[in-house]
Amino acid sequence: MSVQARQTEVRLIGRSDAIRRIEEDLECAARSDAKVLITGETGVGKEVVSRLIHSRSARASAPLVTLNCAGLPDSLLESELFGHVRGSFTGAYRDKPGLLEMAPNGTVFLDEVGEMSPRMQAVLLRFLETGEIQRIGADRSHTRVNVRLITATNRELRTHIEAGAFREDLYFRLNVIRLCIPPLRERTDDIALLVDYFMDFYSRQHRTPRPEVTPGAMEQLLAHRWPGNIRELKNVVERVILKVNGRAIRAVDLPPDVFGAAGRPARVAADAAVEAATAGPSQVDELAARMLKHGESFWSVVYPIFMSRDLTRADLRKIIKIGLESTNGNYRLLTQLFNMGDDDYKKFLNFLRKYDCHLPFQLFRVAPGRSSAANSSQGRTPAAANM
Ligand SMILES: Nc1ncnc2c1ncn2[C@@H]1O[C@H](COP(=O)(O)OP(=O)(O)OP(=O)(O)O)[C@@H](O)[C@H]1O
Ligand SMILES: [Mg+2]
Repeated sequence: MSVQARQTEVRLIGRSDAIRRIEEDLECAARSDAKVLITGETGVGKEVVSRLIHSRSARASAPLVTLNCAGLPDSLLESELFGHVRGSFTGAYRDKPGLLEMAPNGTVFLDEVGEMSPRMQAVLLRFLETGEIQRIGADRSHTRVNVRLITATNRELRTHIEAGAFREDLYFRLNVIRLCIPPLRERTDDIALLVDYFMDFYSRQHRTPRPEVTPGAMEQLLAHRWPGNIRELKNVVERVILKVNGRAIRAVDLPPDVFGAAGRPARVAADAAVEAATAGPSQVDELAARMLKHGESFWSVVYPIFMSRDLTRADLRKIIKIGLESTNGNYRLLTQLFNMGDDDYKKFLNFLRKYDCHLPFQLFRVAPGRSSAANSSQGRTPAAANM
């Protein structure tokens, strides 16, 4: 919870249509005194928007009070908002004003309003209807305040209402001006601009030279889904700036969950390491078992997930290795083992060669102890392997 008397600079970076619409809506919200409900996933910028509404409104010279409703027990939340009188509960040694009283003619921003308990929802509704503040332990209203209310939530409040967890009458009161901020993955036009902005910001803050971003790294940044939205992107940029210390940012410098977002990074030097890290041996075993034990075909079990990039080359090689170990290196028998038709032999070999997953058959014809060498084999297969 915080009271912000003087406004620190906040900026809404972005050039997507979505951000332009948000800019227009927030200008419109700033011109009025109506309640605003801001919705959007975590990290999309709900608090940034609330601060901009306040700082561009006629209330800008009065305080902006922010209170996060999540995780606070009712008694504490009520006391924070409305204050209490001395002796109203253990530890209440003196009268204390609530945050609402600390923002006369200002703005109150209630974050995560969807988390309020039914009792607190009723208390808030009563305040919205009367504008009166009753401190905890007082037998009548203490004062009236003039504040503008902005609320935010990352919940689907409509679903919450249908489930009986949020009051519909309160929802109608809060939802006068509605601002929905879309997730970053739906406004990828903003990613390069945000990266640029945070690179400038953190290079200055950490006093390091501002690095370039290679096209490969930008490709990954654009393809990532950003579940944590701008907050996640901001953290990624800060971490990478500290890591590269001025040299160009390559795809491999990005955190593992961002690196690889654009698909199999086969051209990158750390390819094998990343593939190994993301490859689940259990997935390989499971796919092999579906073909070897349950008679399913390679074309329906392995091929589609490899083509959709949910299976790496390293994993495909492991599956081929499992098969070749059973057939003593014989690819023709392998097509049978993997439940493909006889006519598929050529097609299968071409497919493996095309993706560099054709393992030399000789490795499986020697003593079993050496067969593991197939795992690391990347080389072209001799023509004799086509048997
Ligand atoms: N368009 C933007 N331009 C610049 N910075 C932004 C933008 N959107 C968000 N940020 C930054 O991203 C971080 C997260 O934003 P904010 O706290 O407003 O998100 P939120 O939607 O309130 O998230 P939560 O639901 O988790 O509370 C902040 O550091 C904020 O400054
Ligand atoms: Mg927030």
